[in-house]
Amino acid sequence: MKKIIIAIDGYSACGKSSTAKAVASKLNYRYVDTGAMYRAVTLYFLENYVDQTNPKAVAKALSNIEITFHHNEKTGKSDTYLNGLNVEDKIREMEISQNVSEVSAIKAVREAMVEQQQKMGKSKALVMDGRDIGSVVFPNAELKVFMTADFDVRAERRQKELFDKDQLVDLEEVKENLKKRDKIDTTREESPLIRPEDSEEVDTTHMFFEEQVDQIVRLAGTKMLKA
Ligand code: DC
Repeated sequence: MKKIIIAIDGYSACGKSSTAKAVASKLNYRYVDTGAMYRAVTLYFLENYVDQTNPKAVAKALSNIEITFHHNEKTGKSDTYLNGLNVEDKIREMEISQNVSEVSAIKAVREAMVEQQQKMGKSKALVMDGRDIGSVVFPNAELKVFMTADFDVRAERRQKELFDKDQLVDLEEVKENLKKRDKIDTTREESPLIRPEDSEEVDTTHMFFEEQVDQIVRLAGTKMLKA
């Protein structure tokens, strides 16, 4: 069977990452969460007081950032490392969510991340999720999925995800954050979130998790046989 690239794009909190991870595990493919990469850059910028309006400061910061993923034996998941330090929990905090859309709208940041992501796709057998994977990173991906879900469902899912990590956040605050991020993600100049014409839409509003995973695995199967 042909090894393929599966690009999964969509809004924040519609189940992309957990679905993409499960699809990758079923297919024995690698999984890359590109949102985690933008979150790690945001953490670095905040911790080092990088002036985002200064292109030189941004370029210098980017040259000092190394993002890697390592398997966590305890959780069975892949953790994000920033310059050798495990930042998986830190990058999921509200403070990062509140700043990541601005940071990921910076052209130089996107160029640096896209370059790394394209390198990761060289050997195929990859599931990557984000906002611009099917449109910019891998425009020739064999399978492009665009995931959606109703706004209220997304907000409730994100609130539960935070709660599961011991972060109690008011639903209204979660909604405000999602609204703001949707606006920035879809209207920014640099590779805004769009639905690629050749993508398959998967609306997860009324779907069980296993259903959405199986649907994508089935779609992948047809592409793998097409080689
Ligand atoms: O998927 P997430 O919520 O962890 O993503 C965090 C932010 O990163 C999101 O607001 C937009 C940005 N992002 C992006 O611009 N491009 C990607 N490929 C992935 C994420």
